[in-house]
Amino acid sequence: MSTETSSAAFDRMWTDLEPVGRAGSGGYRRFAWTREDHTLREWFAGECAARGLDLVEDRMGNQWAWWGDPDAAPRQGIAIGSHLDSVPDGGAYDGPLGVVSALAVVDALRAQGRSPGRPLAVVNFVDEEGARFGVACAGSRVITGAMTRERALGLTDADGTSMAEALRAAGRDPEGIGPDPETLRRVGAFVELHVEQGRGLVDLDLPVAVASDIWPHGRWRFDFPGEANHAGTTRLEDRRDAMLGYADLVLTARHVATQQGCVATVGKVAVEPGGVNAIPSHVTGWLDSRGADPEAVRATVAELTARAADFGATVTEESWTPSTAFDTALSDRLRHTLGSATELSVPVLGTGAGHDAGILATAGVPSAMLFVRNPTGVSHSPAEHAERDDCHAGVEALTACVADLVGGAPDAGS
Ligand code: GLV
Ligand code: MN
Ligand code: MN
Repeated sequence: MSTETSSAAFDRMWTDLEPVGRAGSGGYRRFAWTREDHTLREWFAGECAARGLDLVEDRMGNQWAWWGDPDAAPRQGIAIGSHLDSVPDGGAYDGPLGVVSALAVVDALRAQGRSPGRPLAVVNFVDEEGARFGVACAGSRVITGAMTRERALGLTDADGTSMAEALRAAGRDPEGIGPDPETLRRVGAFVELHVEQGRGLVDLDLPVAVASDIWPHGRWRFDFPGEANHAGTTRLEDRRDAMLGYADLVLTARHVATQQGCVATVGKVAVEPGGVNAIPSHVTGWLDSRGADPEAVRATVAELTARAADFGATVTEESWTPSTAFDTALSDRLRHTLGSATELSVPVLGTGAGHDAGILATAGVPSAMLFVRNPTGVSHSPAEHAERDDCHAGVEALTACVADLVGGAPDAGS
């Protein structure tokens, strides 16, 4: 299999994306419906146009670029891709690796002279990380109906801008968003390639894995009340300091998660009024908890909720995603294809990270994932990495899988 053309295309596209939304930390700030997001969407549209793909947006603005007619018959399309947005100071690979690899797969199939027997889409999902509005996988949740239009439009960012306002500011019609069965009817299978976000592959010394499942996970908002007052003149016994309940939450989360065998993280906090010399009148902390066992996660959150009540806190569940198993037949087929195409052993790994592929799987779209080795094992950080040879191996692996799924003979002699 020749990947020379697609490797060069991968490298060029990676260089194109490098400066977009890069922060001083070396990480990326690419949030939904911002200028950076617009630049990335335009870049994606340009790459699709250069390949002669037919770009359509669904009712949430996810971009689908089709090679072949997706409406010729229902559920015939094979979709590949991921997302281009990031967490605050995120790595370069979480999301973009899947999109860039998918575009490179189109080049590789073309280099083989292959005309797919089934339509093929490259997809860029919008707002996968939920970094701006708080709910991850907003793009896939809305089109599948997992999140209602009303809920999505009412979400607000840190500045109080609602998603409805952000969509309007980006030149879009917020009233138009909603479930999109027509888009989903086109898709017979979705395969998302993603950088691995742990040490599974580096420990096994292998470049590519197939995913088995996603842990159940959720996000909860804890609001602690207090009373603003002077940090120097207010006696300790007279204070109502909202920060104390928050501090208790952070430390107890670690303790309870350890006992329950799951993970819990408070990664975001907002303090009012936010003055060094003022006692906090209100603290909001966001808890993220996940684990193999949903009962352990639920028990962790229940214990933290009960404890936070002692501090007068209110707790709101912002999202809950049950455990998701990927399609076994599709995943086995990918493993089988990779086994014969690459002679590599291809491990099967579970993950604690959420993905649009999980949302689609829950909505009944046969979905699977490929992971590419991350030598640092670090993700959601500038230290996230994949060696270029492994990126190319990922493209080669995805090309083999897609060639098998879409069929269509390569040109004789290619
Ligand atoms: C997304 O990457 C998540 O797992 O939160
Ligand atoms: Mn992520
Ligand atoms: Mn991702």
